[in-house]
Amino acid sequence: MSVGGKLSFRRRVPEVDAVGLPLVVGGDDPPHLDELVPDGFDDVEIEVGPGKGAYLCAAVAARPRSFVLGIEAAAGYASYAAQQLHESGANNGLFLVDNARLFLEDRVRPGSLTRVHVYFPDPWPKRRHRGRRFFTEETPKVVHRALRDDGLLLVATDNAAYAGQVCRVVGASPLFERDRALERELIAEGPGAAFSPTNFERKYLAEGRIVRRFAFRRA
Ligand SMILES: C[S@@+](CC[C@H](N)C(=O)[O-])C[C@H]1O[C@@H](n2cnc3c(N)ncnc32)[C@H](O)[C@@H]1O
Repeated sequence: MSVGGKLSFRRRVPEVDAVGLPLVVGGDDPPHLDELVPDGFDDVEIEVGPGKGAYLCAAVAARPRSFVLGIEAAAGYASYAAQQLHESGANNGLFLVDNARLFLEDRVRPGSLTRVHVYFPDPWPKRRHRGRRFFTEETPKVVHRALRDDGLLLVATDNAAYAGQVCRVVGASPLFERDRALERELIAEGPGAAFSPTNFERKYLAEGRIVRRFAFRRA
């Protein structure tokens, strides 16, 4: 993204009241990952677009030695999610209002993350909006740089066309290897391991939609 594009997104971030909540509003100069993660955690994970935060709340409960940062573009969702996290009493998670794609590009040191989670990313079906998708040709490079050597990129979507795009850009990239056995293991581990639970997952499964889940290892 161009410098102009970055600035215009970050200048538009609305103010929300974060007092007392595990919530940071990025604004036009968001903090770096290192400034947001307290010392002493074994692993750092990022969830892209956590929405109302059901997955992040389950993930921090499942992995107390990990710190999980949810980066949400919609301030209202981030505020709601932070309230849920606050009520859970967990101290190993945080929500940040920012564009996750930009944050991964310019606020994360190489090799910082053990996992990047992307669950039910907006499909932006209109051709003229495709550039807004999280998964583009550049995504493998951006996520690969941010992950540790043994890092994972975990994705779920109900949208068949978007699943095809994930397979095309990540599955075909030499920077990642899909691990189907790991997908089955993570699903069997239950809530908070990976993929589940999310608010959109619950809604789409109730509607009978097929959910596709992918675990990619950093190559
Ligand atoms: C379809 S919702 C899914 C929410 C949640 N993952 C779930 O499964 O319930 C997609 C979310 O991603 C957020 N989003 C879209 N693009 C984003 C970006 N570049 N950075 C951060 N959040 C983004 C949207 O605001 C929305 O909350």
